Amino acid sequence: MSFPASRTSEARLSSEATRPGTAGKAAPHAERIESLISAMTLEEKAGQLTIMPAALAPAPANAANPAAVPGSIEEQAQAVREGRLGAVFNGDSADWHRRMQTVAVEESRLGIPLLLAADVIHGFRTIFPVPLAEAAAFDADLARRTARAAAEEATATGIAWNFAPMVDISRDARWGRGVEGGGEDVLLGCTLAVARVEGFQGDRGLADAGAMLATPKHLAGYGAGTGGLDYNSVDVSERTLREIHFPPFQAAFEAGALSTMAAFNDVAGVPAHANAWLMKDVLRSEWGFEGFVVSDYTGDFELIAHGLAEDERDAARLAFQGGVDMSMSSNLYAEHLPDLVRSGVIAEADVDVAVRRVLTLKAQLGLFDDPYGRLSPERVEANDQPRYRDLAREAGRKSIVMLKNEGGVLPLRRDRKIALIGPFAEGRDHLNGPWVLFGDPAYAVPVDEGFRAAMDDPANLTVVRGSEAEAPLEGGIEAAVEAARGADVVVMVVGEGERMSGEAQSRIDICIPEPQRDLIAAVMAVGKPVVLVLKCGRALVLDETAKQAQALVVGWFLGVETGHALADVLFGAHAPSGRLPISFPRHTGQSPFHYDRKVTGRPPLSLEHGEEFKARYRETLNVAEWPFGHGLTYGDPVYEGLDVGDGTLAWDGELEVSATITNRGDRAAEELAQLYIHDRAASVTRPIRQLKGFQRVRLEPGQSARVRFTLTRRDLMFIGRELSWTVEPGRFTVWIGPNAESGLEGTFELLAGDAASA
Ligand code: NOJ
Repeated sequence: MSFPASRTSEARLSSEATRPGTAGKAAPHAERIESLISAMTLEEKAGQLTIMPAALAPAPANAANPAAVPGSIEEQAQAVREGRLGAVFNGDSADWHRRMQTVAVEESRLGIPLLLAADVIHGFRTIFPVPLAEAAAFDADLARRTARAAAEEATATGIAWNFAPMVDISRDARWGRGVEGGGEDVLLGCTLAVARVEGFQGDRGLADAGAMLATPKHLAGYGAGTGGLDYNSVDVSERTLREIHFPPFQAAFEAGALSTMAAFNDVAGVPAHANAWLMKDVLRSEWGFEGFVVSDYTGDFELIAHGLAEDERDAARLAFQGGVDMSMSSNLYAEHLPDLVRSGVIAEADVDVAVRRVLTLKAQLGLFDDPYGRLSPERVEANDQPRYRDLAREAGRKSIVMLKNEGGVLPLRRDRKIALIGPFAEGRDHLNGPWVLFGDPAYAVPVDEGFRAAMDDPANLTVVRGSEAEAPLEGGIEAAVEAARGADVVVMVVGEGERMSGEAQSRIDICIPEPQRDLIAAVMAVGKPVVLVLKCGRALVLDETAKQAQALVVGWFLGVETGHALADVLFGAHAPSGRLPISFPRHTGQSPFHYDRKVTGRPPLSLEHGEEFKARYRETLNVAEWPFGHGLTYGDPVYEGLDVGDGTLAWDGELEVSATITNRGDRAAEELAQLYIHDRAASVTRPIRQLKGFQRVRLEPGQSARVRFTLTRRDLMFIGRELSWTVEPGRFTVWIGPNAESGLEGTFELLAGDAASA
């Protein structure tokens, strides 16, 4: 593995007919692509199947991906010039992209434009809440709008291809990378996958200047690493793959995503990067995917470490034959594909298929027609600063989840003396989250700034850090205790630092770090009302002391408008409306924990301890501390009057299930009504519950609304014995409620029909 060395270039052919911007522009793309393929050397073909990190990448990009060295700027330009490199990612500016594109278009033999890519995970200049936080909004429209805004900013620097969204279902809070996804639920995961693809790609066609090709990743099962350990083996059943992990990918492809990225992990013994069953049989034959597959960062090279490949050449062979079209960062395709073809191991026609896929996407992205189309001066100029602050603030406040609010300590009064305590109470270091390459933290609004702006008298705010994220601060606890004594109410911003989640940040204990636990205990002992705001990129388990805080709020990493978004909710300008997209378990040892786990043959009969020989731990029931879907608001929504009609769903019919929600509180309520089902008897075991719908209602004090959901037999489908989607007549339990562990309960029956039409 190395960066492409400078080689004596092949004789430069005159190929005006295939150059963009010249005579070739008139030729239909398919013809132009075929004529390019027939003009290309094997080295040039391998070059089109190679992507490398930009020599000019922002520092965090290289820090996140240290294993490959992109080489000097001139070496990289030379590789492009010689056709040995067809795509570059995580470059840092419009200037750099224009410069590299010019080399590709003007100075390479065939003038094939570069595909410029990047990791634009949750914003580009304007950093929005981390994707897991945004998932808490349960709001497809919001996810679509933030993805669109990210694409508008990113494409203005020339980026045409995004390594997002991550659509891996994550059910193990120890895994740090759940922060980048949509949480633990399949329905929510599919909804967000579609919204994000639509947002990134836009609705004006891929050739539009603001369109950014989406890459649902990582295919497949990346979130299911054994023990929650990043990169670890995945050994889930094909049923679980098909029912849990595949659907968000399928939904994303149906929404128009035309690239995907292989996962680092093996799947039942075969690394995804060499898994022809996954990348060919399932992805292409079953799902009809027509885009291209990119490796993850050196994922092909890692087939050696996996123990599959003998050496680099073998790794290139296995990855290519496994269905990976493009190699990221290892340069193995550039180094070995030509020889693998010349020695008859790989057919040139197969290489042509992969090249055709890549060139077709370049054409669809408009790069052949106008390689600089995204880089118009107006777009570049408008792009200096975060442009979408209002949207970031809206997304921030909609992502916040209130877990507990005892005695109505929230909303905070603006005229009170407040002690704001904790390592994240001030400063800009932990606002954006772990996976931001292009957003400048200098633009982010710290928590204390947001508070001051919301308070009647900013002088009533005392700010004390008290501790670092993972280390004590000399005199910190004493200062915090003193501040608490002098305040009417204490707000503590505690939890994980922004680099405690994300790639390679698996944890064995999903607790608040000890120095902060000591700080919390000391401050709570003062006896003032305490609001804990939790910064985290995963579910956290709180100790008994922290759980006693009067109010608990999940504040995630909210991005550029963190301080204002938090203040909006904590001071009551907006009611909290976020709901947990992941379960918060009672103990780390329950991991992987998710609400739609199986019932088992021995479910505990009660919530009391003492039952023997049931599926429970010695120390705790296997239930959540705060379940999936949970989140309070300032009003008091009460559910009544579940109606399941006549309790039957005809095979080809519809069943309306409805309930009334009344706000019995004296403040406005933002409620997310959720519909769950359970299949009581089926040919394979079924989860305790599955989410099948959600609806948001806003209720003024005293106001009622009827929420109505429509079920068809499609909502009741599962992966049956034959490992394909099926549905079986019989009885189902149905709930409408505020989270995955409560709600109004009823039953209905799916009547038998023509099974062939399932
Ligand atoms: C490794 C990550 O797994 C992947 O998601 C990302 O797109 C690449 N690095 C490139 O930065």
